Amino acid sequence: MALRLTYYGHACFSVAAGGKSLLFDPFIRPNELAKHIDVSAIHADYIFISHAHFDHLADAQEIAARCKATVVSNYEIAEWFAQKGLQVHHMNHGGKWKFDFGTVKYVAAIHTSSFPDGAYGGQPGGFVAETPDGNFYYSGDTALTMDMQLIPLTCAPLTAAILCIGDNFTMGVEDAVHAAQFVKCRKVVGVHYDTFGYIRIDKDAARKKFADAGLELLLPAIGETIEIK
Ligand code: NI
Ligand code: MN
Repeated sequence: MALRLTYYGHACFSVAAGGKSLLFDPFIRPNELAKHIDVSAIHADYIFISHAHFDHLADAQEIAARCKATVVSNYEIAEWFAQKGLQVHHMNHGGKWKFDFGTVKYVAAIHTSSFPDGAYGGQPGGFVAETPDGNFYYSGDTALTMDMQLIPLTCAPLTAAILCIGDNFTMGVEDAVHAAQFVKCRKVVGVHYDTFGYIRIDKDAARKKFADAGLELLLPAIGETIEIK
C-alpha cells in the first residue's frame, strides 16, 4: 500500500490510488520549468481543481477532454467546465463524496479564486482523499489556517500532506511546518515554489526547517514519481 505521486511542476501532481489516476491543478505548458513534460502523455481519470487561478487550471480543459476525465471542484468552477462540455462533479466546502477510487472531502483554504477572464470562481479550497492506497491532503493555495486542525478530527490519518511552501501568494516554509503539525502528518510534499521570481525558495534550508520539526519535506523533481507509505 503506497501512494504513487508524480510531480509536474508548480502545484500540479498526479496520484495513482484506488486504481485511478487523480490529477491536481494542471499548469504545465505555460510553466518554463516543465518544458520537458509531454502533456499529451498524461492520463487522468479525475482532475481536481483547488481554485480558479490560471496557474492551477491552464491545461485542465485539454486533458479532461482528451481523457474524458471528470473535473472535480467547487460549484462555480465545476459549472465553468460543465459549460465547456466536460464531465464534472460539483462539490463545496465541508462536503465529501464516495468516488470509485475512494472518498474526497473539499476543505477550506484562505486565498482568492477568480478565473483568468474575471469570472467568479467561488471560494478556494483543498482536498482530503481517503483511498485504499493511502490518505492525503492537498492544501491548494492557502494561508496557514486554524481550520486545518479540523482535518485530523474529521478525516482518517494522513499518509502525506501536499502543501504550498513558496510564500508571497501562499504559506511559506515556516507556516507550512505548522500546517503539517495541524494536520498531524509527518510526510510533506512541497509545491507552489520556484515557478516565478516571487516564490523561489532555498530547498536545502526548507528541508532543514521541516527536519528540525521532526517532519520530512519531499521535493520531487519535475517529472519524478515517488512512492509514499
Ligand atoms: Ni492562486
Ligand atoms: Mn497559485
